[in-house]
Amino acid sequence: GPLAPLDHHTLEKYESIWLGVAVTMVALLFVGVLASMITGTMPLIASSGGQTGHSMGISKAGRVDPTKLAATPFANPGLVQNEDGSLDAWILAGNFTFQPGVLRVPAGKPVRIHVTASDVVHGFQVTGTNLNTEILPGHVASMTVTFRHPGEQHVICNEYCGTGHHNMITRFIVEP
Ligand code: CUA
Repeated sequence: GPLAPLDHHTLEKYESIWLGVAVTMVALLFVGVLASMITGTMPLIASSGGQTGHSMGISKAGRVDPTKLAATPFANPGLVQNEDGSLDAWILAGNFTFQPGVLRVPAGKPVRIHVTASDVVHGFQVTGTNLNTEILPGHVASMTVTFRHPGEQHVICNEYCGTGHHNMITRFIVEP
């Protein structure tokens, strides 16, 4: 009858409304999952992205010349306490090792961790947490981490980087 095309049109309208609702719900679910990943699943540490600042030999965007690491804080990997009391941890990945092999950090205090690679792409994963980043030569990955509880946190390379890949490990000793 004459109403049939109108009904069909109305149906399409409802369909597009429901499609919009469905898309919105999926988007909300996604945001919720992201939020719970950030807030709910990190019992051991709290972390956030961090600026590298104006450190020697490192651009504000975190660029570094991997052949000139001797002119950067990566020449002396380890924990540095700044004049204002803040902490920077400089970690160098390369030759199937992380330097330093052990890093002592205080519990409950933010530490800005900076990691770069001297040779090829490596990974940097703090086991038991969702702190996990790719380490590229020529770029400094920076993140601010607060280790909540005293103990040990192991760090592994989770990017295949060659024959010594599985030996790449370091650890944080979190002190009370
Ligand atoms: Cu470095 Cu795998």
